[in-house]
Amino acid sequence: MSTVHMPVMLREVLDGLQLRSGQTIVDGTAGGGGHSAEILKQIGESGRLIAVDRDATMLARAAERLNDHRAILKRGSYITLRDILNELSIDRVDAILVDLGYSSDQIADVERGFSFSSSGPLDMRFHVEEGKPVWEILKTIDQAGLEQILTEYGEERFARQISAAIIAVRKHPEPMTAVELTSLIEQVYKQAGVHSSGSNIATQTFQALRIYANSELKHVEQLLTSTAPDCLKVGGRMVVITFHSLEDRLVKQCFKKKQLWQEATKKPIEPRPTEVRFNPRSRSAKIRIATYQPSGS
Ligand SMILES: C[S@@+](CC[C@H](N)C(=O)[O-])C[C@H]1O[C@@H](n2cnc3c(N)ncnc32)[C@H](O)[C@@H]1O
Repeated sequence: MSTVHMPVMLREVLDGLQLRSGQTIVDGTAGGGGHSAEILKQIGESGRLIAVDRDATMLARAAERLNDHRAILKRGSYITLRDILNELSIDRVDAILVDLGYSSDQIADVERGFSFSSSGPLDMRFHVEEGKPVWEILKTIDQAGLEQILTEYGEERFARQISAAIIAVRKHPEPMTAVELTSLIEQVYKQAGVHSSGSNIATQTFQALRIYANSELKHVEQLLTSTAPDCLKVGGRMVVITFHSLEDRLVKQCFKKKQLWQEATKKPIEPRPTEVRFNPRSRSAKIRIATYQPSGS
């Protein structure tokens, strides 16, 4: 199982982690193992890497690349890191990286429903045993609830019309597919007289449903307010890559908690133009870095 995912802002991530020989580092979103593989090169023979991913399929991909005695792979959310460290008899770690959202490999898998054009059921869960697939959520949720999700997590300007269109077609017994949802959204935009302005008009709705189905923002908040402070050494580095403004705002807000964090970057780090040209997916990426400095330390 090879990976098509290109690790984003690799040089900036490695600089941000301030890696040294012998350190214990957590990659909380291992994905295809792109960042992890480079981390292994910089932590020496006595270093350790703990690579975590919520998606078992992604972890299997990472395992191929991280076939190394210093790497320990665990399936689960990064919010379970304290339990993972307890199991490994590790007290605290030197740095944690999270590269939020989904990977190009997950988009490429048509069975998962992450991409606009996939013809399989609209699932979008990172782990098949956690929560409900999106198609099932769409069968039971009321219109007001759906509109709120599209507004809150997608900032979708046609949230009301898209919700109404989804509710109107959901009597069909088969699970909705990503292609069907994309076509519904296109019809709403067309009726409103709005033509696509470059980025796919389904982006906001897909983002909102994925965030909701996986409770993504709750996991980020828990990581930065509770899990990471429970797992990092004092002075340990927390490096977060975000891909949209909701995530970035939340990370910024969490890093403002002066009793926990000292921000290492005043402004988020953005990709260099050469990287964006080479890997267009990096265009919306932002890195924020903080060190764990609990008050009184
Ligand atoms: C952008 S990709 C990471 C790519 C990786 N850095 C690389 O270089 O290959 C994000 C990964 O995070 C995983 N993920 C999302 N939410 C998670 C969570 N709460 N805990 C652990 N993994 C999560 C996804 O399954 C996906 O594999």
